[in-house]
Amino acid sequence: DVVRFRESYRPQYHFTPPEKWMNDPNGLLFHNGTYHLFYQYYPEDIVWGPMHWGHATSKDLVSWKHQPIALYPDELGYIFSGSAVMDLENTSGLGSKDNPPMIAIFTHHEPKGEKEGKNDFQYQSIAYSLDEGNTWTKYEGNPVIGNPTSIRDFRDPKVMWHEASQKWILTLVAGDHAKFYSSPDLKSWTYLSDFGKDKGAHGGVWECPDLFPLTVAGSDETKWVLLISINPGAPNGGSGTQYFVGDFDGTTFTTSQKDIKWIDYGSDNYAGVTYNGLPDSDRTFIGWMSNWNYAQKTPTENWRSAMTLSRKLTLHKNDTYYLKSYPVAAIDEYSYDSKTYDSITNKYSLTSENFNEMRIDFEIEGALEDFEVKFSNVANDQLFLGYHKEDHSFYVDRRKSGKIDFEPRFAEKIHLAPARTDKNDHTRFSIFLDASSVEFFVDQGTTTMTEQIFPTQPYTVMTFTSKDHKMTQVRVSKMKRIWE
Ligand code: FRU
Repeated sequence: DVVRFRESYRPQYHFTPPEKWMNDPNGLLFHNGTYHLFYQYYPEDIVWGPMHWGHATSKDLVSWKHQPIALYPDELGYIFSGSAVMDLENTSGLGSKDNPPMIAIFTHHEPKGEKEGKNDFQYQSIAYSLDEGNTWTKYEGNPVIGNPTSIRDFRDPKVMWHEASQKWILTLVAGDHAKFYSSPDLKSWTYLSDFGKDKGAHGGVWECPDLFPLTVAGSDETKWVLLISINPGAPNGGSGTQYFVGDFDGTTFTTSQKDIKWIDYGSDNYAGVTYNGLPDSDRTFIGWMSNWNYAQKTPTENWRSAMTLSRKLTLHKNDTYYLKSYPVAAIDEYSYDSKTYDSITNKYSLTSENFNEMRIDFEIEGALEDFEVKFSNVANDQLFLGYHKEDHSFYVDRRKSGKIDFEPRFAEKIHLAPARTDKNDHTRFSIFLDASSVEFFVDQGTTTMTEQIFPTQPYTVMTFTSKDHKMTQVRVSKMKRIWE
């Protein structure tokens, strides 16, 4: 008999569904002291199927409580990705001012239409809950945004309240671009504008948009950020999330950005979006920790895939605007039994029963030269992370990290991230390892790499290698399990 949540590869401090298949985070909403995480869910199998919205709640964005399935497929189709808002003023009339409705805005995907080769099988619908997300009623006037027939991929609505124009703003994706709509009541929507046909990366279809304002750290300049997931076309293959920094005037999104920016350079952070209901200074993101290249083949048995750690997003500017993403402060409450070391020198190894439930923080002094951190075990599984000066890149090499042969693209190459750091002479690093993932943060998220790994047994040795550097200010901490 399987002990639930202790199966091999089950993450111990990341969100996973109780069983079966999960993909994108949906309907992220903070309300009444509770974080709601809904997610693309297929409760019958560990591969993708007719989509539902699973549901979980949290008080701190680290520990989660599983809730009943929120939305089931219906005669209009499967329930694809989308967002949720609290309609506090009851603009929709679906609740009352005393008991304002929680509203989910999602894509209905009609599989029969798709099979028959029609183009109009995806459209946008809403559902509401009057009991804090426990039970849901679909709106009888669905869909609320029908499909202008020529667009097959027409999905993933993200809604926000736009203070300046006193309207709801909805962003969705239509194949190779985003579309914006506005509404006074979440039911009748007016098309506003398009963005992106000629901007950014287009190696694959655009998915899961998010639009929000952020103030540039250390200034009073506010910019708008547009997240767009694309699949395929990510820098290290398959699925990835790009972003644009620009302006939104209530009608159109514009940007002078020329380069392509990615929120994460690892291959397992996809379809991530941010919470509604938090102040703009607490912009919080969570991504699906997988990649469509191999998501349905990873070597787990009772469930499939996890979310990234919840991350706070901040906006910065030097030669260019860039986002930092770093685990929310609450994660520190889950770090315990820390051991500290003033310095760790070349070829030095630390051992532990299980590095896969640990977090390692360290610093490197001086301009960056080559260094490598290796995690290994007696089965000779080896995971490498480090910096390679020749191409000015951080890297994660999981080619020998454990089980890799379930899909050729999983371990076909070393993953690289162009090295962005905060300073030239001092760099901070954090590595969060869990049973089947590693999250690598440089300078509190200035560069980020998130990767799945499947070691055949936990890593027990960490070895540092560098001709030029020592690791300093080293802290090795255990991570508390969230599924006790
Ligand atoms: C992204 C995605 C979305 C879609 C959902 C279906 O991973 O393809 O565009 O709504 O998954 O499960």
